[in-house]
Order: sequence, then C-alpha cells, then structure tokens
Amino acid sequence: MLIGADWCDAASGRRLEVRDPATAEVVTTVPAAGAEDVDRAVKAARTAFEGREWGGARPVDRERWLLKLADLIETHAAEIAEIETIDNGKPLVISQRVDVPSAVDFVRYCAGWATKIEGTTVEPSLPGFRKNEFFAYTRREPVGVVGAIIPWNFPLLMAVWKVAPALAAGCAIVLKPAEDTPLTALRLAELALEAGFPAGAVNVVTGEGPSAGAALAAHAGIDKVAFTGSTAVGKRIGQAALENMTRISLELGGKSPVIVLDDVDPAVAASGAANAIFFNSGQVCVAGSRLYVQRKVYDAVLDGVSTIAGKMRIGPGLEKGTQLGPLVSERQLDRVAGYVRTGLEEGATLVAGGSRHGTRGWFHQPTILTGAAASARVAQEEIFGPVLAIIAHDGDDDAVAIANNSVYGLSGAVFSKSIERARAVADRVRTGTISVNGGSFFSPAVPFGGYKQSGIGREMGKLGFEEYLEVKSVAEGVK
Ligand code: NAI
Ligand code: MG
Repeated sequence: MLIGADWCDAASGRRLEVRDPATAEVVTTVPAAGAEDVDRAVKAARTAFEGREWGGARPVDRERWLLKLADLIETHAAEIAEIETIDNGKPLVISQRVDVPSAVDFVRYCAGWATKIEGTTVEPSLPGFRKNEFFAYTRREPVGVVGAIIPWNFPLLMAVWKVAPALAAGCAIVLKPAEDTPLTALRLAELALEAGFPAGAVNVVTGEGPSAGAALAAHAGIDKVAFTGSTAVGKRIGQAALENMTRISLELGGKSPVIVLDDVDPAVAASGAANAIFFNSGQVCVAGSRLYVQRKVYDAVLDGVSTIAGKMRIGPGLEKGTQLGPLVSERQLDRVAGYVRTGLEEGATLVAGGSRHGTRGWFHQPTILTGAAASARVAQEEIFGPVLAIIAHDGDDDAVAIANNSVYGLSGAVFSKSIERARAVADRVRTGTISVNGGSFFSPAVPFGGYKQSGIGREMGKLGFEEYLEVKSVAEGVK
C-alpha cells in the first residue's frame, strides 16, 4: 500500500488474496489494512494537505501533474487494461475500450478545473455602515482530506472518479479500493508519484470493508468521504460520517428501468436493452435490470433480447471474442444465483439462461425472467448480475408509474421513435440520469448521481468537482 512516500505492509502483517475470477485462482496478495494503517494514511494525507509541497502547490501545478498522470495512464494503457481484466474478470476489449480511455479522459477533464476555481465578490448591507464601508468575497477552498471507498465493478474508473477531482481541488486523498479488485488502484498510485504529485497527496490502503473501510469512513481526521457501492453500506457510511459532520457523496445502488414504447423498431430496442443489462455481466450501477415493454411490441422485443442472450459468448476476459466475462467473486455468483432462484419461487418464468456456466471460475449465463410481479424481489432489488426481468406495460402513463415504483432512482432509459414522446416520459421518471434511444452514457462533463436511495451528491461535471470544495465567505470592514 502507499502511505505518504512509503510502500508498506499492514501493521498486522495480514494479507488478502487477489483472485482471477475466470479461474478462481490466487494471482497475488495485498496488505489487509486495519484501523492503525488507515490512521497513518489519514495523517499522511493531512500532513501533505497542510504542507508546502502539496498544500502550497499552485493550481497550474496541480493541472500539470494531473495531465501528466493522464499521459502516464495512456502510456501504460495496455498493461493497465490487462491488470483490470485479470483482477475483475471483464472482457479485455471492455478494459481497453471503456475503462482505461474513460479514466484518461476524466483525469484530463479534471485537470482543467484546477485552474478555474473562482469565488465571488459581494456588496453586503449592514446596519450602521454606508455603502463601500464594508466588503465581502467568497473563496472556494479544498474540502481537505478525502476518504474514498470504491467498488469492484470499474476499479480504475471509480478510483479516478474520486482521485482526480480531489487532486484538482487541492485535497489530499486516502483511497480504499474494493478487496476484490485492489490492483489498478495500486498502479494508479505508483503513476501518481511518477507524475510528480508530492508524497501524501495520494494514499492507497488495501483492505476489507468492515475493517479498513469502516475505519476510514468513521475517522475524525477526514473532511469528506466519497463512496460508491451498495445502498446498505452507503447508509452505514453516511451515519458514521455524520458523527463528525464529514462531508459525503454517495453513489449507491440502482434498479434502472428500460422503457420501450410501441413505436420502436423492436430489433433496435432489443439490442439496446440487451446491452443495458449484459454489459460488464450486469455488474453496473446503472444496469437496465427491469425492462418494461409496451404490449404491442412485447413478443418481438422479448424474442430479440432472448436471442441475443442465447448467443452471447461466455468466457475468460483474456480470451479473444469473449462477450460476457465472469462475475467478480464467488460471493457475487452465489448472490446472483440466489436471486434467480428467488425469482422462480416468486412465480417468474425462465426464458433464457438461469444457471452457472461451467465449473471453473465464476461465470453465470445471461438470464431472462418474465411474468414477475412489479413488486417481486427480482423487479425491486439490485441483483448486479446478468439477470433481466421483462414486464409488459400498457402505455406511457403505466410505464412511468411502474418505473417510479422503486426505492432507487439512479438511471433509466426510454426507447421510442418519437423524441417528444420519449422526452415526456424521461421528464417524469424520477432518476438522476436517463438516456433516450441508447445505452447509459457517461461523459466527464455530464453530472451523474442518484435520486432517492441511489445516493447523495453528484460525480463528474462541474457539480461533481464542486463536491470537493468548501465555500468560505470573507467580510472586511474598510472604514
Ligand atoms: P459493498 O458496498 O459492500 O462494497 C463497496 C465498497 O465498500 C468496497 O470497497 C468495500 O470494501 C466497502 N465496504 C464494505 N463494507 C463497508 C463498511 N462497513 N464500511 C466501509 N466500507 C465498506 O458491495 P459488495 O458487498 O461488494 O456488493 C454487494 C452488492 O452491492 C452488489 O451485489 C450490488 O448490488 C451492490 N453494489 C453496487 C455498486 C454500485 O456501483 N452501485 C458497486 C458494488 C456493489
Ligand atoms: Mg480479483
């Protein structure tokens, strides 16, 4: 792990096994940080934040280091993509074409913000003072030391979603990657040092959620916690943070509806819907896991999605031609298989997949369930696997009502040939992001985050960057 300038072990000496999901074999081990290590990392970050080298660095220096970091990730793109695939399991083409380039783009985008931080000047009115006898201005200051806890579905990308805006703002950060996928975060830390970031600006502690993660979230020495993961853990982290009034941004679970209206080309909608759920083996916070299709085109769309599911090439991420990689862990495979059983017990019908694929590694077939009630667990809870519930709807109002019947509000999609109709539906769906006639889009400049139990705050865009800034108002008497 990286604490300050030191690559170190956990104080306890404990280590965690890192496994390749395609084989279930151990590829390496990393330190299992405990509370003591987290405390050291938070102190190293604080020292950097208050120190001359990092705390005193000019915005243009931060910009330069971030641009250098982006260049370094790009230079080592092939290697990083391979590490990501070995650690997470996803097809190498996804690591190469999505994870790594998106990370590079986002770091560059954040680099630009470092030099564009502005406050305001204000003309206050105070009893007893004449105009111009009193003056006020606001400054945007870095929030301070950030604790970041991230999941395993897009390990490098989730790391830079926190690290890059934090560094652009002038914060110091302690990053705890997921125990299932710690490798690219460690490589990122190495590259950050190589890019020139002063020691302590970036610290990475590897460890488990309930120990290292919980210690970081509850640490009184951090000023903000940035978390992506399950809603259950997000709630715990939020509660721990409130104890110290630590700032929070939480990107949590979702159960994203894909609404298909009856004027679509069924083949286009089926391909979009299949991509929305099967991309990254369904391990995506915005996965389109509830597909609502208007009755007139229901059979055609169901047929289209089932055909795609039946033809997907399942295999190791490193194997050429693989479209669906393994799930990240045995635990995740068990969770997904458990949901399929639950769906069938609740009365749903299996129209594709339904089981584990093979016996080596943690593969699961692309799976489609029909006939689940809108209230069924498979239609309400986040499964985080290649499992889709398809349900018929009776028109725009009905579709909006079922889509909004959810504790989640992260994302959604609408398919229609009429942009007016699609937009009217999109406007009424209570989610932080919604896409029309396409998969979910992620752009560095577009804010992303959840309504309802899908989270608090935004990432990306100007709004995401501002989550790493405080506002200070300065008032000056000039009499
Ligand atoms: P998780 O929410 O437990 O893990 C995410 C991160 O939180 C990891 O770094 C983990 O070490 C950390 N963590 C766990 N417990 C913690 C605690 N008590 N205090 C502080 N940090 C803690 O997610 P998990 O168990 O890996 O997956 C369970 C389910 O969560 C998935 O099936 C999926 O439904 C959901 N999930 C959602 C994600 C999203 O992007 N919305 C990402 C990952 C999981
Ligand atoms: Mg792994």
